[in-house]
Amino acid sequence: AEKKRARMVAMNREAALYYMEILSRNPHSLNYLKNRGIGRDMIMAFGLGFAPAGGDQLLGHMKEKGYEEKELFDANLLSYNEEKNHYYDRFRNRLIFPIIDRKSRVVGFGGRVLDDSLPKYLNSSDTLLYKKSRELYGLNRVMKVSDRSRILLVEGYMDVISLHAAGIGYAVASLGTSLTREQARVIKRYGKQVFICYDGDNAGLQATNRAIDILAAEDIRPRIVVLEEGKDPDEYIRDYGKIAFEGKLNRGLSSIEFQVQNLEKNFHLEDAASLSEFLKGVTAILSKVKSPVERDVFAKKFAETYGVRPESFEGEIRRGNMKRP
Ligand code: UTP
Ligand code: MN
Ligand code: MN
Ligand code: MN
Ligand code: MN
Repeated sequence: AEKKRARMVAMNREAALYYMEILSRNPHSLNYLKNRGIGRDMIMAFGLGFAPAGGDQLLGHMKEKGYEEKELFDANLLSYNEEKNHYYDRFRNRLIFPIIDRKSRVVGFGGRVLDDSLPKYLNSSDTLLYKKSRELYGLNRVMKVSDRSRILLVEGYMDVISLHAAGIGYAVASLGTSLTREQARVIKRYGKQVFICYDGDNAGLQATNRAIDILAAEDIRPRIVVLEEGKDPDEYIRDYGKIAFEGKLNRGLSSIEFQVQNLEKNFHLEDAASLSEFLKGVTAILSKVKSPVERDVFAKKFAETYGVRPESFEGEIRRGNMKRP
């Protein structure tokens, strides 16, 4: 298995170099990247590439290099057509984002279409080398350029690259799937202060809620940044710049504040019955705060914000009336 793994590392590296070479000679995709603010420096830093459309170019190149169809298939570089009984390039006509692990090995790939066709991104499935649940996109770059005082968790490839391009060298992506415990453990090792900035849409809010719980299980207390108008970090930083974005991070909410702010949207606080229901929800959120002192501080703060007595929360907690999460 060790030998197989080493061979897969070499194979992935060869494929990544091939895709890079194709990109360097492909004005259309270079132009696409340029229009999205990604120039030569970031292309090199992230090893971006392009997969040709034909379906057998990578295969041909890798055969020339001495690799066999079956092992290329096992590395997820080829797909297999049962009817025609033949192998063909898995990534076709897509921008390529190599996924590079902490040992600087290319372990997998993501590929984005240049138009509106679906799926927008195609990713490697798990292989001998790649365990999706363990990797964070951009981490190898973060290790090179950041001082490890912070780490910022975002959703996507383009968010990471765009942030790095703007000088935010501590962004990593969980890559669409919701954050896993293994990823949370890695995050814990790499940043003293953890920030989450997922897309400012409903899916992003839901994913943030899940990430908060997963990070909490590792005793990580992230600060949360919510972007308006459904923007994602890539769009935000390109519209408003680094200083505005870092300002947002510095004003990031605690998990508790984020959850309460989020909950508030479902209620009409000028209505007494609705307010009362809302306060129950706040109590449930507060009940998750382990430290009594901290719980008290938040209870006072929310009491002030919503014009009620702090005891309205504590009382509920003591009587055990709140919904446990
Ligand atoms: P988004 O749809 O927010 O894409 O998905 P994005 O990163 O903002 O991409 P651009 O800006 O349109 O290029 C966030 C992440 O979810 C994963 C990818 O990792 C993507 O970066 N994803 C999304 C997939 O794996 N497959 C998909 O079809 C879509
Ligand atoms: Mn060749
Ligand atoms: Mn999204
Ligand atoms: Mn985007
Ligand atoms: Mn997005």
